[in-house]
Amino acid sequence: MNLNVLVIGSGGREDALCWKISQSNLLGELYCIPGNPGTGRWAKNFLISINDFESIKNFCIEKKVDLVVVGPELPLVTGIEDYLSQFGIKIFGPSKSAAMIEGSKSFAKELMIKKNVPTAKFKKFSIDEIEDAKKFLLNANYPIVLKVDGLAGGKGVTICDNYNSSIKVLEEIFINKKFGDSGNIIVVEEFLDGEEFSVFAVTDGFNYVLLTPAQDYKRIGDNDTGKNTGGMGSYAFNNLLNQTQIEEIKKNIIEPTLEGLREINSPYKGVLYCGLIQTINGIKVIEFNCRFGDPETQSVLTTLNSDFLDLLWKTVNGDLSEVKLEIDGKAICLVLASEGYPDEFEKGFEITGIYDLENKDDLIIFHAGTIFKDNKLLTNGGRVLNVVSYSREKNFSDLIKNVYDAAEKINFKNKYYRKDIGLKALRKIDSQLF
Ligand code: AMP
Ligand code: GLY
Repeated sequence: MNLNVLVIGSGGREDALCWKISQSNLLGELYCIPGNPGTGRWAKNFLISINDFESIKNFCIEKKVDLVVVGPELPLVTGIEDYLSQFGIKIFGPSKSAAMIEGSKSFAKELMIKKNVPTAKFKKFSIDEIEDAKKFLLNANYPIVLKVDGLAGGKGVTICDNYNSSIKVLEEIFINKKFGDSGNIIVVEEFLDGEEFSVFAVTDGFNYVLLTPAQDYKRIGDNDTGKNTGGMGSYAFNNLLNQTQIEEIKKNIIEPTLEGLREINSPYKGVLYCGLIQTINGIKVIEFNCRFGDPETQSVLTTLNSDFLDLLWKTVNGDLSEVKLEIDGKAICLVLASEGYPDEFEKGFEITGIYDLENKDDLIIFHAGTIFKDNKLLTNGGRVLNVVSYSREKNFSDLIKNVYDAAEKINFKNKYYRKDIGLKALRKIDSQLF
């Protein structure tokens, strides 16, 4: 087979998707829209907006694209699957109605309640119920979690320690419209305590397979301090979860959720990202996303030995029943960011020292926010590069050393990274928690 594939997006996740797809024997041509200098190593980049569905459709027809793989949530939530499907173009990613599982927190919560999927207790309030919301917050137990219903670029969740701070957040959302219409509804949720992890179920709506479980580091500062970010690092290995936990996740979470979506005529096709937490009362869902995680994907895909394109192709063709994935080894991803991220930061600084690292075993540098200008590689975003080390044989301490050695060799002005990525994995193995 010679499949022509188009990946949509421009971050480290899409660089990892292109890298893995490029290794497939089934691949014909690989394209990326809009891509970045990293994806340019494995794919041909084309500068088209990811929200311009018509131009993407024309591109697919012109280039005879057999499969479109979507990275970010926005085009999925706004209906790229439904749009391209009308023209017979196959797409790895859910329909608009199934992508609501990420596009609307209250939709996801109501589905979970209906199907008895364990999750935090919640109450939903719409913008005209602000007084009811205030009354609820007056009598609530703290901390409590406030979430805007719609997409908010990872910034729509606030954990509030007391009534006053929760009222402030509520007013920012409902009165100052900080999140625009995404904040027309809020979900107020019980605070859950425990270890978080991410599980990725690749599914054709009926059958599914699990990729390597992973953890990401969401906070900007060491020891999980400071603001939430898109993710400052990740690691993945199969023994992160034991068999009992995997069975619990399958039976209590993934299977009823897929069934619930089928029951409302929105069978889910693509990857269901389950953001989970191990509480003392069992594993619960923190959130679902309708796409691959970033930066988890950068770790997860380096531990996959099976043909990734074959998996994606079988998913869109409803043919997952016989698929058995070969997953092996472990991986760590360290994000190099621009100082100031997730708030204001400068960009346009030259990146040096990266090319010497390109041919090293067990190491790969994915690009997130970079750009080529006048033959120079420049910083172009908050998260700039992802340094990934992976191995079947080496242990986590070697991988940690690898990524931090590389991080020191790469230079750009205002480079910032966390110093504790991977230590949690070490502690888990040492304490034999997993
Ligand atoms: P979300 O965008 O829903 O993943 O939330 C972002 C982060 O907020 C999560 O990864 C958690 O760390 C935290 N969070 C969300 N919901 C809860 C909850 N119910 N209890 C505790 N922490 C939460
Ligand atoms: N790593 C978090 C996310 O992709 O949403």
